[in-house]
Amino acid sequence: MVRIGVIGGAGYVGLVTGVGLASLGHKTVLMDIDQSRLEMLRNAKSANYEEGLEPLLAQLIQDDWISFTASQSEAVEDSEAVFIAVGTPSLDSGAADLSAVITVAEQLRDQISGYTVIVVKSTVPVGTLDVITDILSRNLKEGVDFDVVSNPEFLREASGLVDFFAPSRVIVGSGSEKARNILRDIYAPLLAHRTVVEIDFIDSNREIPYIETDAVSAQLTKYAANAFLATRISFINEIAGLSEKVGGNIKDIIAGLELDPRIGPGYLQPGIGFGGPCLDKDLRALVQVADDHSYEPVLFNGVLHRNKLQLRDVFNKISYALGPGLYQKRIALLGLAFKEGTNDVRHSLSIKLFRELREQGATVIGHDSLAMAEATELEPDLKVSSELDSVLRGADLVVVMNSDELYRNIDWTELGFSHELPFVIDTRGVLDQNSLQKAGIKYQILGG
Ligand code: UDX
Repeated sequence: MVRIGVIGGAGYVGLVTGVGLASLGHKTVLMDIDQSRLEMLRNAKSANYEEGLEPLLAQLIQDDWISFTASQSEAVEDSEAVFIAVGTPSLDSGAADLSAVITVAEQLRDQISGYTVIVVKSTVPVGTLDVITDILSRNLKEGVDFDVVSNPEFLREASGLVDFFAPSRVIVGSGSEKARNILRDIYAPLLAHRTVVEIDFIDSNREIPYIETDAVSAQLTKYAANAFLATRISFINEIAGLSEKVGGNIKDIIAGLELDPRIGPGYLQPGIGFGGPCLDKDLRALVQVADDHSYEPVLFNGVLHRNKLQLRDVFNKISYALGPGLYQKRIALLGLAFKEGTNDVRHSLSIKLFRELREQGATVIGHDSLAMAEATELEPDLKVSSELDSVLRGADLVVVMNSDELYRNIDWTELGFSHELPFVIDTRGVLDQNSLQKAGIKYQILGG
């Protein structure tokens, strides 16, 4: 058992990581400055919807594996490892804003007593670990009082627990043997498929790869992973755009691509582009790192450029379908979160589209299985309704923004439209085309 403090423990990464570590049998203290989120967590409630998280949290609280505090010194005192999971949002320049990480490090300098491993979970540009080390070294000794380790996260929202307990790999970047040993102790139960609470999606037959490397390579691996995923998405979006122009069928094209073992499946779903808190931010930070080192990131810039064009193309399709002027046109947006399965509306491209449509005078009605409250909190002008049928019946045009099962299962023949039929744009290729055709509805699928 290792005693662990998690700074930024009420954020998405900090919370999933903290719950994961506690489930491995480590006494874990989650620290955050957000008092209201802490209060929710004490009652086993999470602001981020993540399937299975709340029951797990309740059990860990009951069995005394996890606790919460607003005091960083309380989380650090007695901890052998302190995980930093605070946010690193984009600055206007695209560079990562490291102010939260630096504030944490400045406080740690006065709080550490006894050898402590500082584990950086936040996605930080190469060089940041040196900055943290420099700050701590002002009154502590590296290797004696502390070591700083990079241990990047690969958690997808909506699949965060699966990604923690059944990770494709664990990467630890550090030159210190002492620090590596503590990290091995921390992850030993995970590699041995041993938890103190029941986790049903652990596959005890699968070996989890554990990679030890230097800190720079660990950090760059994280950026490279997100850049690669973003590249696949922009790639398939570009192929889908081309397919549409020449009359191809993108579903068949994907089927033909993903069977090639050199390409493989996943991240080949065309759509409105990649949204969410990570891919765009990390890619922009990578471009900034490349610029700082006088290296021209032509590919990454292209990936970002395609991503911008994607939403504009959808907007143009809407304008084309509805004729000149969107004023007072009723547009239904199905899917408001940045993807299905989450209530996270940060960096949601649906919200961006809503803003553009509103600017043109359109009336937008949104629907989402999980994120309607969050969307209206962010955008009070956005009308939402949980009555999917009535959202569809009243619309001049419907745009499907994500792959929610609910949208897949819409029976368009049953809706009983009383006035004109809506035009439907399916950016995800999820709708039942037979049912649309039977209902006589005109539709367009991204990529043909
Ligand atoms: C991502 C990474 O996957 C994760 O490893 C990292 O640590 C954090 O960032 P996340 O942002 O939760 O996770 O979402 P992800 O599932 O990767 O999707 C990102 C965006 O790409 C979403 O907007 C999604 O809709 C879009 N996407 C994804 C596509 O458009 N097509 C795809 O094929 C896959």
